[in-house]
Amino acid sequence: MKRIVILISGRGSNMEALIAARDAGRLPVDIAAVISNRPDARGLKTAADAGIATRALDHKAFAGREVFDAALAECIDSFAPDLVVLAGFMRILSEGFVRHYEGRLINIHPSLLPSFPGLHTHRRALEEGVRIHGCTVHFVTPALDHGPVIVQAAVPVLDGDSEATLAARVLAQEHIVYPQALRWFAEGRLSLADGRVRVAGSAGDSTVLIAPEDA
Ligand code: GRF
Repeated sequence: MKRIVILISGRGSNMEALIAARDAGRLPVDIAAVISNRPDARGLKTAADAGIATRALDHKAFAGREVFDAALAECIDSFAPDLVVLAGFMRILSEGFVRHYEGRLINIHPSLLPSFPGLHTHRRALEEGVRIHGCTVHFVTPALDHGPVIVQAAVPVLDGDSEATLAARVLAQEHIVYPQALRWFAEGRLSLADGRVRVAGSAGDSTVLIAPEDA
């Protein structure tokens, strides 16, 4: 069975969705560890309660990004994962770190990339007046919130939406597509060639999910 390590910084609801999928038999992976750069991350307790090994590596205790990333990589590698899963990990990663995990590092971002990389995606989507918003699961490259797309889910932006209502609509989709992307990985169906992701087989699932009315 493939081993994954999940990196978080806070609430950890995407991590929880992955644990729930595993527990329901929908995600055949071994969650070897959950690591946070914030010792007070709520998700660390959730993971520990689920019997998963946890580690906290406070980035503030390190002299700089490269030193922290090296320590983080050492911690991750001690669990020998097949895949490193960023789930609300709020740190920009150094190029060396990303290269070390090339093809083995994935992220979920709360926008339809390449629109709205970075922070405050829902607020910016509302400010721009876009009618469709969503989330993206992608392999990580050294550029921020960039890389070969594995799956995207789109939701409507409704009249009267606030940042909170839009965020909640997108988050519900994140909790669907992240376990799905991980499942493809676990089943050995994901491959990467020429900067494009291919999902082998046709189990009826799709790399694009259009959420119905106010999902
Ligand atoms: C999610 O919206 C994720 O896409 C983004 O940060 C948020 C983390 O939420 N990168 P959670 O910690 O998974 O609840």
